[in-house]
Amino acid sequence: MESIEVMKARAVSGTIVPPGDKSLSHRVLILSAIADGDSTITNFLPSEDCLCTERALRQMGVRIERPSKTVRKVHGVGLRGLQRPQTDLWMGNSGTSMRLLAGLLAAQNFKSILKGDQSLEKRPMKRIILPLTMMAAEVSPGNKKGFPPLYISGRTIHGVHYTSPVASAQVKSCLLLAGLYADSPTTVTEPSKSRDHTERILPHYGARVEVDGNSVTIYPAESLHALDVELPGDISSAAYFVVLATLYPGAELTIRNVGLNPTRTGVLGVLKRMGANIEVDTSRYGEHPLGEPRGDLIVRHSRLTGITIGGEEIPRCIDELPILAIAASLAQGTTVIKDAAELRVKECDRIRALAANLRKMAVNVEEMEDGLVIEGREGFTPATVDSFGDHRIAMAFIIAGLLAERAATTVTDIACIKTSFPGFEELIAQFR
Ligand code: S3P
Repeated sequence: MESIEVMKARAVSGTIVPPGDKSLSHRVLILSAIADGDSTITNFLPSEDCLCTERALRQMGVRIERPSKTVRKVHGVGLRGLQRPQTDLWMGNSGTSMRLLAGLLAAQNFKSILKGDQSLEKRPMKRIILPLTMMAAEVSPGNKKGFPPLYISGRTIHGVHYTSPVASAQVKSCLLLAGLYADSPTTVTEPSKSRDHTERILPHYGARVEVDGNSVTIYPAESLHALDVELPGDISSAAYFVVLATLYPGAELTIRNVGLNPTRTGVLGVLKRMGANIEVDTSRYGEHPLGEPRGDLIVRHSRLTGITIGGEEIPRCIDELPILAIAASLAQGTTVIKDAAELRVKECDRIRALAANLRKMAVNVEEMEDGLVIEGREGFTPATVDSFGDHRIAMAFIIAGLLAERAATTVTDIACIKTSFPGFEELIAQFR
């Protein structure tokens, strides 16, 4: 099992560029595949998760060229041009691939089977099966608990108005993709706003979408058109370096080309409320062809204070809560993370994983059903901690290791990092 030993960073300065956005890479690839014509995607994220989506689309007859590691030329087959895959579709560790593609596949005229790894096999799919079934789709799980694999019999589906009990962009996007093919409009209402990439970018491909507060309506489409786009960098990947620079004495770090979609920037708001010094400079970037704002972040060291993080803020920083827990551990006072029960159904139970690992590093932490109470302290005590097979836990604790005094911190089972951030180890090498 691959592990890494990290010592306190030597210095944190200079400029880094995070890889392309994961959520957008999945979405742009899927929409380009079902568009009419050829699309070129630049700064595509070639992580394991996105490669699963890419491979699945190829298996359904979409020709995708790779002029370089981070460029994809997609030869769209049109809304009704996908072909029945000859074998099961492998979604690996990727909940996004499984939930988004399930929406797309529910409306095709063929059968398909979506499978995933041990972690994905424990992730809830009833949240998409229920609304897809309301749309008259035929999607069933491999077991009573509603876990993958998913068996899909594509058929004609109907539009519905679905009120989701969870704020989930994967659920919303699944239904919006299915809704492209429905015989009437489909509306999804969520309790608070999850990332809005799908509804934001769909109109640029020619789909009709209406947004009203936390509700999104998609109208059935005749066709989508191709589009060349360059993707912004992933703020979820940038967040590890924002926290590292904030907590490392004397640090000043510039992070370029960061996606600043307001439904994703919760991490910056939380850190600023804790006292972080983060400057956002959008002057180098013009209007983005998909309406996705971006900019550079200039982060300087500062002292943080504990706060309460909860409510509508949670979906806007859901993937950054592990690294925010690291920040909270070195803040002055107590930080409460609440309303975040979704953390229990991510790539691992992130509440349990964070509590276990933070305790090993001598942080006082209390586990709640929907979050954590973290008592800030002066520094981390180096320890050996596990990733629980979860990329975000692995990266968060590697950053903790770069901040720990005296001895080395070991993080075990770190191969999972490549699901979202290939090149993470090379990037941190400059600080080690
Ligand atoms: C994602 C949505 C989020 C996030 C995941 C990526 C997406 O999940 O945690 O990493 O691209 O739609 P939920 O929508 O289930 O909250």
